Amino acid sequence: QMMSIAIRSGSNGIHRKISNAVKRMINFKRGHPHPSLLPHAELTSTLLDLCHTSDTDSEAPSTVCLPGLDYGDPGGNAATRAVLAAFLSEAMRDDDSSLCSGQVSMPISPDRLFLTTGVSHGLDLLCSVLTQPGDVVWIERPTYYLAADIFRHHRLRLHPLPMHAGGRGIDVHRLVNDTNRPPPTLLYLIPSHHNPLGYVLDAEDRAKIARWAGERGVILVADEVYHLLDGDGEGTRPARMAAFDPNCCVSVSGLTKVCAPGIRTGWIEGSPCIMESLQAYGYLCSQGGCAPFGNAIVEHALQRGAIQRHWQHLRGAYRRRARLLHTALRPLETMADFSLPLGGYFMWVRFRHPAVQDTEQLRIWCEQKYDVTFLPGIDCDPFSKEQDKYELSVGCEIRSSFRLCFAYLDEEDITKGAQRLVAAVANFIKKEEKNDVNS
Ligand SMILES: Cc1ncc(COP(=O)(O)O)c(C=O)c1O
Repeated sequence: QMMSIAIRSGSNGIHRKISNAVKRMINFKRGHPHPSLLPHAELTSTLLDLCHTSDTDSEAPSTVCLPGLDYGDPGGNAATRAVLAAFLSEAMRDDDSSLCSGQVSMPISPDRLFLTTGVSHGLDLLCSVLTQPGDVVWIERPTYYLAADIFRHHRLRLHPLPMHAGGRGIDVHRLVNDTNRPPPTLLYLIPSHHNPLGYVLDAEDRAKIARWAGERGVILVADEVYHLLDGDGEGTRPARMAAFDPNCCVSVSGLTKVCAPGIRTGWIEGSPCIMESLQAYGYLCSQGGCAPFGNAIVEHALQRGAIQRHWQHLRGAYRRRARLLHTALRPLETMADFSLPLGGYFMWVRFRHPAVQDTEQLRIWCEQKYDVTFLPGIDCDPFSKEQDKYELSVGCEIRSSFRLCFAYLDEEDITKGAQRLVAAVANFIKKEEKNDVNS
């Protein structure tokens, strides 16, 4: 970035501009949307419209009665759940449900939705009503590292799921044939556009894992925050996990990624039994649902199509960014594995080159010398502090990988940042090889 400094020179008051080349850090680490991708315009008009269309108080006609200002139902007001269920049913209408169980709930029933303030809240609620301290959760490695913290705060014990080498996700064959370990209480998965690996669990594997969970009495908690954020529309999206077996699979999702993080509206879709446990949860009964007023705004935004329009806009924007990133990183193909993300926020880059065994070292180099940064793989490993305990090979692969987020940067920075990464990696390898020769 060129920074210009205006200097008043002498008494004639003429301004002289001195241009300083100041490089700005390009940040591939941050898993947020770019500020220009927040739905300011859509939500402003929704709010104005909500004020205009709200009922007027019959006793004081000049007073607007906004919806959602009273206590609500613990699981979210019925009207909001109905509008949300209609949106989700329409959005997932073409999902591949060929391998789903006979009881697939399509259209999605509002009675099977419990409103939360987002996916993290949904995970925390499920831990509260379904687990006891000391229970075991099986979790992918790598995974969304903050989810691991939610489980640990409930004093749950984490064990790694078997993973394929090469960042190809969970090894379902090994999982369903593993008879050595007693089954866990919960199994936590990110089946759609995984954070950080970017992969999508296919319908066959979803069906197998749901069957296994049903047979072993395991509750499968699917974090589907990126489910609707598919970019390229290539092939059909596998159905959400709750459709495979609603008795043992729970889908946890929200508007965080398809609309805006601050909107803090999410949902849990699960069996009547899980809905009942959540609805009886003390603090939600006491406070009357999570956020009735926020939910009323979301309900109105959905009715006006505002969220749907923004969702489509984001899909296009992220698709372009993912493609730009993939193209600009091509020079790394000789030394690393990565593929074009078909949705979500992330690309996972795994180095084959022996000089890049520790991307934390590479990160320091990139930040200090090239003003570009990313998330080292090790930061996505919930077992990074217990290395000797669990399958070293997966741990090694994570260490030689990094995660790039393409949602936070604009298109210009994506290309510029990727070019900096390519140059940084090339020179890092040269440096490492020189060090080897000298030592
Ligand atoms: C896999 C995954 N789950 C959950 C979240 C957080 O979701 P929320 O903001 O709705 O709590 C994120 C955010 O990055 C995520 O990547």
